[in-house]
Amino acid sequence: MKAQKWSQMWLGYHRVSKDNKNWKVICNDFSKEDRVVNSAIAEFAKGIKGYFGAGITEDDGDVYVLEIIKDTSIANEGYSIKGEKSGVTLRASDENGVIYGVFAILRKLGARIRLEDICEKAAPSNPLRMMNHWDNMDGSIERGYSGESFFFENDDMYVDERTVDYARFMASVGINGIVINNVNVKGAATYLITDRFFDKVKELQDIFADYGIKLYLSINFAAPIELGGLEVCDPLDEGVIAWWQAKSKEVFEKLPGFGGYLVKADSEGRPGPFTYGRTQADGANMLADAVAPYGGIIIWRCFVYNCTQDWRDYKTDRARAGYDYFKDFDGEYHDNVILQIKNGPMDFQIREPISPLLGGLTKTNQLLEVQIAQEYTGHQIDLCYLIPMFKEVLDFRTYCSEENDTVADIVSGRTMGNKLAGMAAVINTGNDFNWTGNDLAAANLYGFGRLAYNTELSSEEIAREWVALTFDMDKASEDKLTDMLLKSREIYEKYTSPLGIGWMVTPHVHYGPSVDGYEYSRWGTYHRADHKGIGVDRSDKGTGYAQQYYEPNASAYNDPEKCPEELLLFFHHIPYTWKLKSGQTLIQYIYDSHFEGEAEAEQLAADWNSLKDVVDSEVFARVAERFELQVANAKEWRDQVNSYFFRKSDIADEKGRKIY
Ligand code: GCU
Repeated sequence: MKAQKWSQMWLGYHRVSKDNKNWKVICNDFSKEDRVVNSAIAEFAKGIKGYFGAGITEDDGDVYVLEIIKDTSIANEGYSIKGEKSGVTLRASDENGVIYGVFAILRKLGARIRLEDICEKAAPSNPLRMMNHWDNMDGSIERGYSGESFFFENDDMYVDERTVDYARFMASVGINGIVINNVNVKGAATYLITDRFFDKVKELQDIFADYGIKLYLSINFAAPIELGGLEVCDPLDEGVIAWWQAKSKEVFEKLPGFGGYLVKADSEGRPGPFTYGRTQADGANMLADAVAPYGGIIIWRCFVYNCTQDWRDYKTDRARAGYDYFKDFDGEYHDNVILQIKNGPMDFQIREPISPLLGGLTKTNQLLEVQIAQEYTGHQIDLCYLIPMFKEVLDFRTYCSEENDTVADIVSGRTMGNKLAGMAAVINTGNDFNWTGNDLAAANLYGFGRLAYNTELSSEEIAREWVALTFDMDKASEDKLTDMLLKSREIYEKYTSPLGIGWMVTPHVHYGPSVDGYEYSRWGTYHRADHKGIGVDRSDKGTGYAQQYYEPNASAYNDPEKCPEELLLFFHHIPYTWKLKSGQTLIQYIYDSHFEGEAEAEQLAADWNSLKDVVDSEVFARVAERFELQVANAKEWRDQVNSYFFRKSDIADEKGRKIY
């Protein structure tokens, strides 16, 4: 495999105390041989070795005791941990609960919490907590910013020690499902569900199973044609149905415990049911029936839109597409289908409204999809801690029901009482030494897992945990780094595209500014700026997108006076002279936020430099280099955006700053 070494990220277990008394582990009704319990105990051994220089012993005598007890009153995958001076008792009803409980104990010990103060009861908010890799079989990663794939290379698969560490990281934050290959399934990846790869997939699946993780595969909807030699992949064709049934039988026999398929169909050139005049529900249900006998599920993505739009067309609105294609079939998707819905209606911009499909569907299993790969949020060069954004998504009230109407309620299964529900993230890892390109981007990896397990955690709690586990530094430095993380999303938003309009990025690459880069393109991604104003009219006088929400959201979004200002340009075409609540005009806001954002990016870089003496020198240097690039990026954004709008509007900056 390519990368020889890799960091331990937040599982570095740096020394916290000199108390090196050994531990004895007692299992009641769990066996130390159970595969996940076995991994949990091995992890505990790693942890106490690092934290204390202690080991696990079979001896009695002067030892601490970790007692693991099966307790069926604890929720699935939940745990209860209670410490006293002599050790800790961990209760769980299943093996995943045991390993999550062990990691929870290790988190506490890492935060220097005394044994007798350990006390926590937890149950996962979301049944499904998934990572989606966009790894291709040639080793490249679509939207990857941290090296190449650690699963694939040269159209082949690899499993090694790094894979085991990867599984440990995922289990440590509560991830229980992983899709290993890109949603755009082409070439060799189509063959992952054939004999060519079953052995290797099984090897990887076994490693995941040791950590309580199910493996899933993205599939090619045209597989019946490409693998089976059929003429069509029409979901209502008898031959196609029979092909998928036989194929799925084979897959589940070869891969016992396999999770199911993730499908991107009829999107950005991928094949799908539309070719045959069928619906998305026809496609999803056909596959769902094929995997149902084996307990499999179909995760069907809702990222379906027309990507060959004419920019001259003001009526077609990409934001509407998900709802328009999927809403009508609410209630018709089979029980083992779950629709995977991006957090916003467009595509992972730094600011978007919440997708109206979330909660728009009231009889369908829903999986929230977010992206921790920083495609539009700085490529893991710029610091952008995304957990505050995900919290906003989860906390959003959809008004889809009298109670339990937030996105967190919907994707946890609380709203509809369904079991198939949860959260998925497009992952930000690769085979770089530090896994995530920017060492600080690991906060998003850690944070997504923690948040998916417990949506009640705050962004700050998660940031603090990650900082304390990753770095070995004093409290003041921890505070500083936590504060940097917490501010970073707002800063990135300030120096990039304003008030929810999005895009303005370099086309295809998606890093750095290009205000008109996507303005005259086929992608449905316009800002519609002219000499009087900017923004897309998505009110009832425009594309009508605002009407896809329930009241009172629909009316609020429909009216520029009531629309949340951070989304103003997403919903309305606004004159530059429009007065915002702050008293600033829109144009002045654009100038001010860009000057501020750039200055704050410089401050982030300075704050990092002030940590030089307390951070490992290699980590320091790697991150410092990223901050230099971020500052350059912020300057470019500031100057291009400000110049663009000055030239369009011919309105000068009130503060007389340099605009080009
Ligand atoms: C974005 C991204 C693509 C990706 C797509 C998806 O458009 O740029 O690379 O394939 O999302 O989510 O399927």
